[in-house]
Order: sequence, then C-alpha cells, then structure tokens
Amino acid sequence: MKPFKKWFGSKTEGAEIAAQLSSDNVPNHVAVIMDGNGRWAQKRGLPRVAGHHSGMKNVKKITMAANDIGVQVLTMYAFSTENWKRPKEEVEYLMKLPLEFFPKEIEELIANNVQIRMTGWKESLPDYTLKAIQDAIDQTKHNTGLILNFALNYGSRKEMLSGIQQLVRDAKDQKINPEDIDDAMFSKYLLTDPLPDPDLLIRTSGELRISNFMLWQLAYSELYFTELCWPEFTEAHFYEAVKEYQRRARRYGGL
Ligand code: FPP
Repeated sequence: MKPFKKWFGSKTEGAEIAAQLSSDNVPNHVAVIMDGNGRWAQKRGLPRVAGHHSGMKNVKKITMAANDIGVQVLTMYAFSTENWKRPKEEVEYLMKLPLEFFPKEIEELIANNVQIRMTGWKESLPDYTLKAIQDAIDQTKHNTGLILNFALNYGSRKEMLSGIQQLVRDAKDQKINPEDIDDAMFSKYLLTDPLPDPDLLIRTSGELRISNFMLWQLAYSELYFTELCWPEFTEAHFYEAVKEYQRRARRYGGL
C-alpha cells in the first residue's frame, strides 16, 4: 500500500483521513446521489431551495477533494427524469443553478484541469440551462484532468430503452449482428459512453435505493450509504467513503 505522502502534516479539511488512503487503489469513477437537500433545509427552518443552493456549493468542494486524490471521473446526479414532477418553482430553481455555478467556479475548475461533461437528455432542458452547461463543456474540452460529469435530466431505464431501440434499428439495418451483442457493445449504446462504470456509488441522506440511476453501469460498483444529508457531506466524509471502498474486496462474482 502506497500512502498519500503529500497529506502528512497538511491542515486541509479531511487531510488526516486522506493521509490514511492508499494511492494505488483510488476508485477511477465515483458516482454520487446527492440526496437530502430539502430535508437539510427544512431541519434548519429554511426553504427547500436553500438546501439545493448549499448542495451546489458542496459539488465544488467534493470535486476538489476527488481531484486531490486522483479520482478520474466524478458523476453527480443533479436532476432525474422524474424530478420534473416537482413543483414548478423548485424545478426552475434547479435549472438555474448551472447559471450560477459555472460562471462562479469555471476559472478554478480550469486551473485544476477539470473537464465538464453531462449525461442526460439535453433536448428538454431550458435553453439557458443548456447554454450554461454547454459553455462549460466547451471551455474545458481541452483539459485532461478529472471529468466532472453532471447527470442531468437522466434516468437509467429510459437510457437503456433508447439504447435497445437503437440496437434493434442497427440490427434491422444489418449494421450489427444480434449474436455479437455483449456487455461492451451494449455499453456503447448508453448515454455514459465512453465513461468507465463507477467503482464507487455514494448516496447521502440515509435512503437505501438506487432510484433509477445507472442501473447497468452500477452492476459491480461498491455501494456506500450515509445518513448525512448532501450539504453536510464534507471532504472528510468523502475520504471516509473512499477509505471504506479500499477496505472492500471486489470479486466480480469470482472468489
Ligand atoms: C435531491 O435532494 C437533490 C436534488 C434533486 C438536486 C441535487 C442538485 C444539486 C445538489 C446541485 C447541482 C449543481 C449543479 C451546478 C447542477 P432532495 O431535495 O430530494 O432531498 P430531500 O429528499 O430531502 O427532499
């Protein structure tokens, strides 16, 4: 085990736990279901959207924490295809968060070589949301560091069904042979292509569900649940989750 030498003596939030991590077993791809924003706000007598705002600020903190230990992809579940059912004002608030987040953070993200990506259906997003995200994607497309991937207007069953529809069309057009369909080929028909599958899934707020998130891609991921709500999940908690990941033995069905 190679410990992270740079953390010894550091005063950064979570440094003590980061120093206990092994640098040769860092999860490549960490996916996060950022749950509990509404409850966090309500517990404090604040409107639900104050929780989303605080949650947005946390995205930046956890991105930097992930970058510091060499995570390559960080996927944040920011809006599901089911979230459109929420009150109009809340949906509108969530859709406007990228307009605040990117102008505020893009400089530092670029300075840290972060690449912005999005997984989800772009068509049904408001123009202003799409523009904010697309600008950030374009501005960071030559970066080579951590991929900060926003799952936005994303739902896994819809993703798989669209993939299957395209597979069937391609088979009918004789572009592919049905016998050749395997894990790798199916993965190419999903919105997450070409990202690797998550190694670690973190869900905050005590809910023990996957909620239609990357059902195919999470097949062999390690799952980590915490009672903490997303706005109170700090860098130290993130490193705790990675520490727990490093304790697990991944067997992929073997021995
Ligand atoms: C779930 O908590 C959280 C969301 C639906 C939104 C998550 C989005 C962010 C944290 C901000 C993303 C940032 C950008 C820049 C797009 P909930 O409100 O369902 O929590 P509850 O279960 O307590 O009600």
